[in-house]
Amino acid sequence: MSELEVEAIDATLGAVVTGVDLAALDDATWARVESAFHDHGILVFPGQHLTTEAQGAFGRRFGSIEHLVEDAIVVPISNQRRDGSLLDEGDLRMKVMRGNEGWHTDSSYMPLAAKASMLTARVVPSTGGQTEWADMRAAYDALDAETKARISGLTAYHSLKYSQARIGDEAPRKGAYGFFDGEPPLRPLVKVHPATGRRSLFIGRHAYGIPGLEPDESAKLLDDLLTFACQPPRTYQHSWAPGDLVVWDNRCVLHRARPWDHAEARVMHHTRVAGDPATELALV
Ligand code: OGA
Ligand code: MN
Repeated sequence: MSELEVEAIDATLGAVVTGVDLAALDDATWARVESAFHDHGILVFPGQHLTTEAQGAFGRRFGSIEHLVEDAIVVPISNQRRDGSLLDEGDLRMKVMRGNEGWHTDSSYMPLAAKASMLTARVVPSTGGQTEWADMRAAYDALDAETKARISGLTAYHSLKYSQARIGDEAPRKGAYGFFDGEPPLRPLVKVHPATGRRSLFIGRHAYGIPGLEPDESAKLLDDLLTFACQPPRTYQHSWAPGDLVVWDNRCVLHRARPWDHAEARVMHHTRVAGDPATELALV
């Protein structure tokens, strides 16, 4: 096997990792991968072609798997049924995928936000359907002192019902991916990373209703922060090839899917790693 190589992407986040077979990862190589994950926030592994089992095993290196649908380790994010037919635009699963096109961090609307997520590309459309990430550590660092002072101590609620309603779509129903019927969790706008100690903006489409602000004022502040944050050099967009795996740190990175022509299939396999209750549990 060739030597592990970690090549930083020309942005404040991201690295491309080669010279490793993730299906046969030894502990010493894992330690280097984990350290690169903390440095770069997202890691791109081209051409891994992992089986579902190997994808789950790599996910478990990061922590416990968050079960999105029953006890599945790998969940398809896809507009194609098993029989090859494509979903209609009105299908609830398409609505959740349209929601994914807004900047977000995974499971922030759940009591325990996610630690990491990974996607592997199985079927990719001929154009579009990229995934893009934005670095919330660099975004926080780039804020002016006045904004940093304004947001320190602020919190926001996170809700998938809110974010879906805002784009005119329904929230998932009971039993479906993303369903949560409890009180929306409340989270600080500034998160301290449990491994690196770096501060980052913890925002995205699910965030709303900052206590102490009028709803309009809260929405404007959150929108302004998001627009400022998700700009070059803090973004990286990946054009997928089948077999690629990307893993990202939901604690300090936002992501979104880019649109594609739904007459073409796009099949991605998602594995989500649960946050640590010591650091990713909501305030209330
Ligand atoms: C997700 C997600 C983006 C994409 O799976 O959580 O946001 O590009 N996916 O499919
Ligand atoms: Mn997501």
